[in-house]
Amino acid sequence: MIEMASNIGRNDYCWCKSGLKYKQCHAAFDEKIEFYKRNHAEVPSKEMIKTKEQLSGIRASSKINIAVLDYVSEHIVIGMTTEEIDRMVYQKTVELGGIPATLGYEGYPKSVCTSVNDQICHGIPSEQVVLKDGDIVNVDASTFYQGYYSDSSRMFCLGNVSEDNRRLVRVAKECVALGLEQVKPWSFLGDMSQAIQDHARQNGYSVVREIGGHGIGIEFHEDPWVSYVIGKGTGVLLAPGMVFTVEPMINKGNDKIRMDRKNGWTFYTADGECSAQWEVTIAVTEEGYEILTY
Ligand code: MF3
Ligand code: CO
Repeated sequence: MIEMASNIGRNDYCWCKSGLKYKQCHAAFDEKIEFYKRNHAEVPSKEMIKTKEQLSGIRASSKINIAVLDYVSEHIVIGMTTEEIDRMVYQKTVELGGIPATLGYEGYPKSVCTSVNDQICHGIPSEQVVLKDGDIVNVDASTFYQGYYSDSSRMFCLGNVSEDNRRLVRVAKECVALGLEQVKPWSFLGDMSQAIQDHARQNGYSVVREIGGHGIGIEFHEDPWVSYVIGKGTGVLLAPGMVFTVEPMINKGNDKIRMDRKNGWTFYTADGECSAQWEVTIAVTEEGYEILTY
């Protein structure tokens, strides 16, 4: 909950540390939040509202995150192992002054997630997994830089990918773009979610329910949890300063998932059909949104 005007005077310095007086800074913002709260909306907590300084930190982290995935884009080829992608991500991230955020995260052993074909997400890079002609692969990189986190993922179509799978990859990307169109202050997370699920379903696909996006910035995974199966007008109210990921997982078949019990990380489609995902980190702004990673 936003701690409000109750304990800040209008002439005091704003809680966001902008150096401005409260009345010239977040006073109107807080009033708006109070209004929505009185009307029973789920409102963002104060931790979800990033300060200008925090936003610059996340932006700097995001620059490295983008550069790492650009580097992967330029070098990924058929015949390469996913372990080699892991090495590229580690080396490029460190070269640019960052640390791969997944490395050692809750015991995760690698610097990146590489999810091939029917792997939905959290595929663990391995010497044993060789990229083949026709594969679709998601490379999901997360970066920690000078105290701030960023996260994004892209799909790669290797060689002669079937028309079906190319369409899946394209529609998954369109889902993110259509979701983003709904992101603006004082709308709801569910507005974005609804646009994504509508487009996926209109194309005959399903959306993974159990795994979603997340707030990010000071921690790798922060509130809010970002679902892509909730309805328009539901979920948390969006306000300027919120930073979260948009990363729907779109399945060609049904939405049932299965976890690899041996590694405890990787999710597969239960029906063995392919799954595709693109991920961006965004900030909600006064006007709409800013893409931090893409
Ligand atoms: N970028 C992935 C996500 O936010 C990272 C998951 S944590 C990992 O879902 F340890 F699995 F990598
Ligand atoms: Co993420």
